[in-house]
Amino acid sequence: MTETRRSPLFNDNRVKLGVMAFNCSHGSTVTTADGAWPMTWEDNRALARMADAAGFEALLPVGRWKGYGGETNFNNRTFESLTWAAGIAAETSHATVFSTIHAPLVHPVAAAKMGATVDHISGGRFALNLVAGWFKNEFDMFGLEMRAHDDRYAYAEEWLSLVKRLWSAAEPFDLDGRFFSGRALWSEPKPLQRPRPAIMNAGSSPAGQAFSAAHADMNFVMLRQKDEGSDRAQIARLKTMAADLGRSSQCWIHGYVVCRPTRREAEDYLHHYVVERGDDVAVANMLDIFGVQSGTLEPAVMDAFRFHFKAGHGGYPLVGAPEDIVEELEQLSDMGVDGLLLSWVDYLGECRQWIEEVMPLMEAAGQRRPFAAEEPAAAKAL
Ligand SMILES: Cc1cc2nc3c(=O)[nH]c(=O)nc-3n(C[C@H](O)[C@H](O)[C@H](O)COP(=O)(O)O)c2cc1C
Repeated sequence: MTETRRSPLFNDNRVKLGVMAFNCSHGSTVTTADGAWPMTWEDNRALARMADAAGFEALLPVGRWKGYGGETNFNNRTFESLTWAAGIAAETSHATVFSTIHAPLVHPVAAAKMGATVDHISGGRFALNLVAGWFKNEFDMFGLEMRAHDDRYAYAEEWLSLVKRLWSAAEPFDLDGRFFSGRALWSEPKPLQRPRPAIMNAGSSPAGQAFSAAHADMNFVMLRQKDEGSDRAQIARLKTMAADLGRSSQCWIHGYVVCRPTRREAEDYLHHYVVERGDDVAVANMLDIFGVQSGTLEPAVMDAFRFHFKAGHGGYPLVGAPEDIVEELEQLSDMGVDGLLLSWVDYLGECRQWIEEVMPLMEAAGQRRPFAAEEPAAAKAL
């Protein structure tokens, strides 16, 4: 099969960039601070276009169906991620546009067609972030039981195999699987990208990591905070697991950004929005669900994470002056991180600041090539 994949996810920038969670109210920050993301379509479009024009590689919505209570009712307003991707695809020309799909909530025949549709709208820039299920309260709205943890990944595996097959099959086929059966299964048009759109997964349990290594092009890792030895080992293990299967997998992380002229000012603002204006009720609700529903976090590390969940949904802190942040990015790159999906309190204002003040330093450090607006977008190249 001829390789026609042009997604910027596979370009040679050492530190690739994306914007994450801007399809949700409050994005990734659990705070009542002024300027927190109210989430309108106009703002989504403006942010996507700004990041796209600056050469960001990825735009990623999270898959979220309801909020977490508290004063913010964090993530209560969310745009659905496939229809979001269709709209964002039409408004952009360079970045890869993701959808985050819960395998049990969308049938693979529908997902294959919807993904292919976004791939055509975007000119070959669709990618799929497949999640197996995390929050029971979301499944309750669909009247669905969450499967036992590892079974979620067995289900996701059959789901994804079927989507991939629908994206490539030259003839209709019958299927008698454990979870899916059907006659004369078929999907046209195929995605523009060959061999297929990129797949991301954020599994972090043993079953999740095994799934990711076997099926994903990118693992979305939750690193332990500032524990370089174990972070490095975690990334190396994930890449080795994929390599042992004859595959290669990128490692991406979520970074929450607080960039100010000085480190002191950045830390002061972080303190303000997390400690003075953080929504403790929403974050307690969220961590309760985590503790019960996912084996990812030990109770002992819960407390350390509480701060980071308010600050940036458990992401990695990028806090300081532009120079501090670029230095931090260098360390992350050295540890094996290939890309970061960023979030801010005030996405529009602070993403602009990132583009104006951090990107030039990243380019000077050789982390990224300067982005030429006329660089062939996937749409034109395919
Ligand atoms: C940065 C990040 C973003 C995630 N986004 C979502 C999401 O949008 N929707 C969802 O249901 N799960 C999401 N997850 C949860 C993961 O898919 C996964 O279930 C979680 O990391 C626990 O791993 P496990 O399923 O292997 O136990 C996310 C995880 C991480 C680390």
